[in-house]
Amino acid sequence: MPKITCLAIESTAHTFGVSVVEFRKNKFSILSNVRDMYKTIKGGMIPVQLSEHHMECFDQVIKEALSRANRSLKDINLIAFSQGPGIGHALRIGAAAVRSLSIQNKIKLIGVNHCVAHLEIASIYSAKDPVLLYASGANTQVIAYDGGKYRVFGETLDIGIGNFLDSFGRELGLGFPAGPKIDEMAQKARARNAKYIELPYNVKGMDVSFSGLFTLLKNMIKLGNYDSLEKKEDLCFSVQETVFAMLLEVTERALAHCEKTELVLGGGVACNSRLKEMSQIMCKERDVKCIIPENQYLVDNAAMIGVLGIKMLNAGNITKIKDSRINPYERTDDVKVNWK
Ligand code: FE2
Repeated sequence: MPKITCLAIESTAHTFGVSVVEFRKNKFSILSNVRDMYKTIKGGMIPVQLSEHHMECFDQVIKEALSRANRSLKDINLIAFSQGPGIGHALRIGAAAVRSLSIQNKIKLIGVNHCVAHLEIASIYSAKDPVLLYASGANTQVIAYDGGKYRVFGETLDIGIGNFLDSFGRELGLGFPAGPKIDEMAQKARARNAKYIELPYNVKGMDVSFSGLFTLLKNMIKLGNYDSLEKKEDLCFSVQETVFAMLLEVTERALAHCEKTELVLGGGVACNSRLKEMSQIMCKERDVKCIIPENQYLVDNAAMIGVLGIKMLNAGNITKIKDSRINPYERTDDVKVNWK
């Protein structure tokens, strides 16, 4: 295989990320992985503001990624980008940037699926055929390659786990993003052996649901006295134990059904210390290898887009400019897979 130096761009949601990934002698090297994240004090992601954020930072993030990798555009022979799924306003900025870079510099272009990229980055940790537990703000899915394509074996029936945790945190007055604070508070509760508060456990077949639990928590916080820090910590602990057990139940069942021996975590919620710990316990009990990428490769990042883009190019794929329009609603199981 010839050497490939890929400039990769991720822009499906809050993160504008750029990475330089090199493929040489059958080995991936991530030379840089830079990201700029849109943040708000309150109100979540507003699509127009999201595109303004990406417009303002894209040039600088690209320059920074090239500089940290010690490469220039002349060294780049592939540009990969997240083509979908995601928020149209955000995806469009990344797509416009890569199209102009590709045309101006005559560099091949490849569009990749963001969810599949979360799984494919596991190959830098020597994974061969894992099940992915993808737990992020908008996405909550259990994905594996089976019967010639990536299939979703279980998913949320309503909101993503990250959105659920952030909404719950907002009710507790923890600000945004609330996930890391919930993790920290739950750890404090566990350290003093807090009592688990019984909460509804919503697994329906292979799917999970969070919106009913959120409504209950909202009412509990409104009606109960949750001013004390200790009570807030107890609730954070109980919520985490409940929702992560739900995720791992369906993940374990997917591992058993597909007879896979590797689990990989992906998504921002996978940075949670308790989810990592519970995944390791489940994998140990099942004798399954538990692959937990570094946090910079768990959250939305361009390195995973580069890894998948290179794999797709090596299998003979290329995206023509006329086919480079964004796919905001692309399903994981719509992706044609020819690189496995
Ligand atoms: Fe993601």
